Amino acid sequence: MIHQKAQFGIIGLAVMGANLVLNLVSKGFSVAVYNRTAQRTLDFAKKQNNSHIHPYYSIQDFVQALERPRKILLMVQSGTAVDEMIQQLEPYLDPGDILADGGNSFFEDTERRCTLLQGKNILYAGVGISGGEEGALHGPSMMPGGNPASWDCLRPFFEAASAKVAGLPCCAWIGPGGSGHFVKMLHNGIEYAFMQLIAEAYGLMRDLLKMSPDEISRVFGSWNQKELRSFLVETASEVLVCKDPESGDYLINRILDKPGQKGTGKWTLIQALESGSPVPVIAEAVFARMTAADKPRRMILHDILPGPDPEAAHASLSSGKKDFLEDLEKALYASVLCVYAQGFQMLRNASVQHQWELNLSEIARIWRGGCIIRADILTDLQNLFSQNPGLDNFLESRYFTQVLGKAQDSWRRVVCRGISAGISLSAFSSALAAYDAIRTQNLPANMIQALRDSFGAHMFERTDRPEGLFFHGPWHNSEAQISSTVYNA
Ligand code: 6PG
Repeated sequence: MIHQKAQFGIIGLAVMGANLVLNLVSKGFSVAVYNRTAQRTLDFAKKQNNSHIHPYYSIQDFVQALERPRKILLMVQSGTAVDEMIQQLEPYLDPGDILADGGNSFFEDTERRCTLLQGKNILYAGVGISGGEEGALHGPSMMPGGNPASWDCLRPFFEAASAKVAGLPCCAWIGPGGSGHFVKMLHNGIEYAFMQLIAEAYGLMRDLLKMSPDEISRVFGSWNQKELRSFLVETASEVLVCKDPESGDYLINRILDKPGQKGTGKWTLIQALESGSPVPVIAEAVFARMTAADKPRRMILHDILPGPDPEAAHASLSSGKKDFLEDLEKALYASVLCVYAQGFQMLRNASVQHQWELNLSEIARIWRGGCIIRADILTDLQNLFSQNPGLDNFLESRYFTQVLGKAQDSWRRVVCRGISAGISLSAFSSALAAYDAIRTQNLPANMIQALRDSFGAHMFERTDRPEGLFFHGPWHNSEAQISSTVYNA
């Protein structure tokens, strides 16, 4: 029997890989599949029983079953598993074949693999894929980057598989090297911060207003009808009403407050530090997960460290619940805007640093559907960046300055209330602090410069001289006069 060659190959049949196979097959493509453990391939092929799915049990057979140039998507765990798979595939690949990695790989690994394989004329792409299991099956957001020569071949498959918004695929070529995976990493950083804000809003409603999960769900549901419309707010509303079949209680009440993390938030932070991009809300979100994960310590310190009386805080709000919820909605929206602003600014910095020429409008567009951080805000951002590609911080735009103007009083009231009640609002307060910092003409950072120069002669610039000229102050007895030495920056 002569088998037709398969148009596309996927390696790795865990849930994301398997769902992408089904997605592509549903679009009419034939897909060869391979998994490290043969049993999984066998089970998958048997369960699907679809003539467009071609299962293989050796790498060699899998590669040989593919149309040329071969197009292979790795859906294996990020890290060494990707390198091992590349090593196994390499002997069977020909120049011009395309290898793409759809996992959450670290972008520098993707850069390295791209360069390594370019030397062998294999076109490598690192593809950020967001949307979880459902997205993989029905349409994720896809962020491919790497060897640009791979794009023409990958494009029909990725565009067909990805989510569609306004008739357009949520997939666009991001740029060279590891840019696709970098953009996905940043997506996850925003995801961390957005989720932390949602958790804090939930905490305020639960602990300060003493609302039931059902009630809180309705609040998130109503917010999801307005500016805050987003996948995460909608999902928050949904998870709150899910019941635990075992106890009959709301499942949310039975979930231990010990969050996990796989590392993309941490990578975002490390990169932010490396590139000098302030993303404080993402940082707080990563640290907040760490603090929460250390439950034993919290249990001990709960009995030792004093805080305000939560009952008094609750009682003080009993008549102002409606107003507080209105404030909270505005505070959440303003904070979420700050998170996206910080994320997009980091993308802009990375684009300059790595010479990727990222198209921020396109990135906003492909995040409008399929991915975890999809939100109505992204439609505004797509338009703003397309009208003004050089826009540094989108909060500067007329539209958002007006939004923030209307929200800021509410935002401050929410943070003050939470802090007075002893409720940790690391993301809300960090977003507000960042907002206040970027709009302050005279920050007290002159004190930092004075201290640095005083103890370490690190020099400072003066308010009454041109920037770039550095001075040393007469801080100590031995230095009777301010140093006349001028150093050029
Ligand atoms: C996505 C998600 C996905 C995954 C995160 C979870 O875009 O589909 O971001 O990649 O859910 O990696 O990350 P943590 O385990 O670190 O929360």
